[in-house]
Amino acid sequence: MAAAVSVPVSADVVLDSRLALAHPGQGWMAVADVHYGFSGAMRASGGLFPIWGDATVEERLGALCRDYRPETLIINGDLVHGRVCREAFGAFLERLARLAPRLVLVGGNHDRSPTARAAAFVESHAEPGFFFHHGHLELPVPQGSVEVVGHHHPAIVLRDGAGLRLKLPGFVTENLGEKARWILPAFSPWAGGAVWPDAEGGVTRRWVCGPGRILRIDGEPEAGAATSTCQKVSDPLTEG
Ligand SMILES: [Fe+2]
Repeated sequence: MAAAVSVPVSADVVLDSRLALAHPGQGWMAVADVHYGFSGAMRASGGLFPIWGDATVEERLGALCRDYRPETLIINGDLVHGRVCREAFGAFLERLARLAPRLVLVGGNHDRSPTARAAAFVESHAEPGFFFHHGHLELPVPQGSVEVVGHHHPAIVLRDGAGLRLKLPGFVTENLGEKARWILPAFSPWAGGAVWPDAEGGVTRRWVCGPGRILRIDGEPEAGAATSTCQKVSDPLTEG
């Protein structure tokens, strides 16, 4: 596996190619849209999905926490995809709680099954200058805070002009005058991703996260660099 890399996305916050955002100074790390149990939920409804994904999610989250050692691990919504086995989910939550001194579970639109609701979800979470919520609801954002959401599974399509087409998860920031919104990439390996349009009247920046590499995609592409194109792609994980 390619070595993970990270890049600064603001003065204090870094984006890791393993699809996490970290603020080492404030001691938090955030991921969104884990969709634990996705393949199991698909199989339960008749889809011939391989049982794959949950283990890699847990490995990646564990590796991120070992590297960043966050005081606060924020799961910004859609920890769970659908119905899950109560015992397996309980054990998963116990392992999650051991990853950082404080675990914050922000509720998402998928975290609604009776089993999921037994976990201690909150509607939003604030850190100095940052306001986290999943993004499926309109919530008032404290003045001066960056709104950090998940839910949308932003993706970026790269083309080389010779037939190569590669869609990868992305991290997006929007600056709209006094307001700023950041959209986290989906942590789930099953997320298809949807291209995020430019913010009207604002400045949109995008980072594309590949294995061991992060590219910033906005403005004029560097000479020889791949270009991105906007293309609407549906993502079943954002529905529900
Ligand atoms: Fe969601």
